[in-house]
Amino acid sequence: MAGNWKMYKTRSEARAFLAAFTPLIADLPAERTVVLCGPFTCLDLLTTAAGQFAPGAQNVHWETEGAFTGEISAPMLVELGIRYAIVGHSERRAYFNETDGTVNKRLRAAQTHGLIPILCVGESNEQRQAGFTDPWIATQLEEDLPGIDLDRLVIAYEPLWAIGTGATCEATEANRVTGLIRTLAGRADLPILYGGSVKPGNIDELMDRPEIDGVLVGGASLDPESFARIVNYKAFAAT
Ligand code: PGA
Repeated sequence: MAGNWKMYKTRSEARAFLAAFTPLIADLPAERTVVLCGPFTCLDLLTTAAGQFAPGAQNVHWETEGAFTGEISAPMLVELGIRYAIVGHSERRAYFNETDGTVNKRLRAAQTHGLIPILCVGESNEQRQAGFTDPWIATQLEEDLPGIDLDRLVIAYEPLWAIGTGATCEATEANRVTGLIRTLAGRADLPILYGGSVKPGNIDELMDRPEIDGVLVGGASLDPESFARIVNYKAFAAT
């Protein structure tokens, strides 16, 4: 269950979130992994508060150091205690010109230094309307995954048209595409998340689906109660 704060939360806002959130996830089942991916300025707060959850970053560069203004390297994140890094989020691909080539390099660097990358893939609305969802996902995986260790990877299926729009992908379709990703990757035990307008109101339905192992949550991870409700999805909340 991963949260992506994107470019939200100052340090004082992050502190207030953590004070409210951590007690709400105190009794999670041991097998349930929670990851919170914050902006760089909050990462030390996340590592300090971590315990019930694992701290994550939202990107990572492929070089260990160098003249790459504005970037962050895997050793810098690892030394801070960061365990996960989102790679290839559609906002990085759309607004910062990230390509499958650079996504692959970032994935490799993350794994080389011991981070678990969360690779994001997904189709646009135009691609979906044109019936091009499945070949597009296949192409992304073909280009993103060469040389990647599938034992230390999480993939998130995030249809672009569902991100931040309130238009969640139907659970049956999210389940179908996550299953397709599992088949294409060729690994039954690969953790695959769904992301795109996940809310307290749809989490139980999504998590009921057999192919969906978890979720990547943007907007609804900003509020401690809403993210805690998502993290404590049905199986646990019902007890
Ligand atoms: P959203 O974002 O939950 O706000 O739709 C998801 C994401 O971008 O990972």
